[in-house]
Amino acid sequence: MKTRVGFIGCGGISVAHMMRLEQIKGVEFVGMCDIEKGKAEQAAQRYGGKAYAEFEKMLEEVKMDVCYICVPPFAHLGQEELCIEKGIHFFVEKPVHLDLEKAKNIEREAKAKGIITSAGYVLRYYDIVEEIREIIAKEQIAFIRGKYYGGVPWDGKVKWFITKKLSGGQLVEQSTHTVNLMHYLLGDLEEIFAYKTEGIFNKIYSGYDVEDSSLLLCKFKDGYIGDLVSTWLWSGFSSSVDIMGKGIEINYQGNTLAVNRGNHKIIKVSSVDPMFEENKAFIKAVTEGDPSYIKSDYADAVKTLAITLKAHESMENGLPVKI
Ligand SMILES: NC(=O)c1ccc[n+]([C@@H]2O[C@H](COP(=O)([O-])OP(=O)(O)OC[C@H]3O[C@@H](n4cnc5c(N)ncnc54)[C@H](O)[C@@H]3O)[C@@H](O)[C@H]2O)c1
Repeated sequence: MKTRVGFIGCGGISVAHMMRLEQIKGVEFVGMCDIEKGKAEQAAQRYGGKAYAEFEKMLEEVKMDVCYICVPPFAHLGQEELCIEKGIHFFVEKPVHLDLEKAKNIEREAKAKGIITSAGYVLRYYDIVEEIREIIAKEQIAFIRGKYYGGVPWDGKVKWFITKKLSGGQLVEQSTHTVNLMHYLLGDLEEIFAYKTEGIFNKIYSGYDVEDSSLLLCKFKDGYIGDLVSTWLWSGFSSSVDIMGKGIEINYQGNTLAVNRGNHKIIKVSSVDPMFEENKAFIKAVTEGDPSYIKSDYADAVKTLAITLKAHESMENGLPVKI
């Protein structure tokens, strides 16, 4: 059985998905769209399908089963709504929007029309992340600590990253992966509080108006507590999650899991390609009409978006915010 696939946005992450999708039996690329039409043409030449510069025209002319929406955060301009209208299942990259009300509306409409959705929270597809969930279920857990250290993307040359109204800032755009993982592991959040530092990069990069660093404090519905420190001050990349329970420390970093019980330590390196798993799960969900293969759907991604946007509310008004 064929699955007809279209793309809106043919930049960096799209190509990473295309490379994996072409290895999945039955996938047929039918449409490629990018406002820079040359990118759509290049993708169409390499993977197949017809090239477009306007998503409305592509969705009008090309019949497809699924659409990948891989545009920058500021560029969610009705693509999801049109997919829903036309009954097209969609995969959308994180962060799924910058406008929480519009995102909630998309969530409601997709659910009402039975559209299968998947969001690009790729870390969930690591086998070791599932293993952490299994360990947590058997232990007395108290808290989680996340870390997301990187440098300013593209050294400030790609302006949308460093402009708050276009990217939302580091927490909304990038550490969103860690936030999503935190609520995958310990469940929904009840309340958050956040601080930020600023004033270093805005003197270096013209137009820079996002935080340099942030601290997010979390209270989970099930009684756990947590925090996440994010910064662009680091010149490399380092991101991890630590979970502490009675007599157990669990550390997750990239493809590696370490479980330390004091006198006994296990280290496990995953050999899974989580993005391949993510794509296989979405295509399988659509072909079998069974969304249960998907580990982060649009509704789940909206929870992450709400946490990160409300963190900014807290940074501005100095008060805790209910989720
Ligand atoms: N899940 C992950 O690990 C991961 C990794 C990288 C990027 N991303 C996310 O993917 C999204 C895209 O990032 P990227 O790195 O591919 O960026 P990119 O700039 O390389 O590509 C985005 C493309 O979208 C196109 N575009 C913009 N507006 C459009 C519109 N209205 N219609 C059609 N095309 C449009 C741009 O021309 C560009 O080619 C971002 O939200 C980013 O956070 C996720």
